[in-house]
Amino acid sequence: MIPFLDLKAQYSEIKPQVDAAILRVVESGQYVLGPDVAAFEERFAAYCDVGYCRALNTGTSALHLALLATGIGLGDEVITVSMTFVATTAAILYSGARPVFVDVDPVSWTMDPAAIEAAITPRTKAIMPVHLHGLMADMDPIMEIARRHGLIVIEDAAQAHGAEYKGRRAGSIGDIGCFSFYPGKNLGAYGEGGAAVTSDPALAQRISLLRDWGQEAKYRHVLAGYNYRMDSIQAAVLNVKMNYIEKWTEARRTVATHYDRMLSSSGLRRPMAPADGRHVYHVYAVEHPDRDAAIKALQASGIATGIHYPVPVHLQKAYADLGYKAGDFPVTERLAEQFLSLPIYPELQEKQVAEVVRELNSVRVPEFA
Ligand SMILES: Cc1ncc(COP(=O)(O)O)c(C=O)c1O
Repeated sequence: MIPFLDLKAQYSEIKPQVDAAILRVVESGQYVLGPDVAAFEERFAAYCDVGYCRALNTGTSALHLALLATGIGLGDEVITVSMTFVATTAAILYSGARPVFVDVDPVSWTMDPAAIEAAITPRTKAIMPVHLHGLMADMDPIMEIARRHGLIVIEDAAQAHGAEYKGRRAGSIGDIGCFSFYPGKNLGAYGEGGAAVTSDPALAQRISLLRDWGQEAKYRHVLAGYNYRMDSIQAAVLNVKMNYIEKWTEARRTVATHYDRMLSSSGLRRPMAPADGRHVYHVYAVEHPDRDAAIKALQASGIATGIHYPVPVHLQKAYADLGYKAGDFPVTERLAEQFLSLPIYPELQEKQVAEVVRELNSVRVPEFA
């Protein structure tokens, strides 16, 4: 049996430290924000190579507050991708703005910079690229277009802790970077968690206020805010995990090199990791033209798989009001039909990768569309 991910294996490695950290918080009587959260913010800001981190209750809240802090709201448009988790789109709608999708690049699977300018209108205020599966979007052209048109850039780095683009960390290139610490993420809490990072002190200050009911001092509300604060227990867990994040990320990258090597003659398209970038493999997906047969073959051998994501956001019933239709984003739609995510986590062994690849190779790969 090979699970899709194995959070219990990770817990067993850090159990004594995590148990002690949680107990310390329980005994402290400080359960929301506080010193554990402040310590985490300092460490995570340094890890992302930015001046400030504001810890929040979810990654979705990070996206929402990033939009509000940069002044985006009703009547504005935000350019993003449809090949993402729905939270990216939902956060834009929470702010009152309208998501405008562009297609992804067929090789990197991230926002196609060549598609951006045609989507810009007088109402466009921001671009929100998504670092899908842990590979950063092509940030140089995205930033160049944004600066030329006076647009904000908010990185959805929910899947990309520690990823790099030409030596620069995820979250440090745009105006604000947004992370999720949902348990299955590369850096996962034991519950919900998220963070917004920035090097702009004014934006950090606005996010601090907005996450805590807009309070400047107790019961003095200067902004209409939210309850988006991080729990102290989650910060305590994340502080322990910060000691391991680099080791775990390198272990993921090693698993990915095994997959890359063993799949090299499979005919399957695999993730493109540029030589000057650092892919952190939150997900290792392949494009499989006969995905159902592959899932069945793997399942029969006790190997779990995932699909990230089977229905692009523009074709989800919940977002039908946006007015998109099948055929609008051909690359996104093809990937949604062919993406197959293979098991990947730091503890996955080379021989288990070989088992996955053996089963995968037992399925004939038809011609790509
Ligand atoms: C690309 C992307 N954006 C945003 C989110 C939202 O994060 P959260 O679940 O912490 O709200 C997630 C993860 O769930 C994600 O994968």
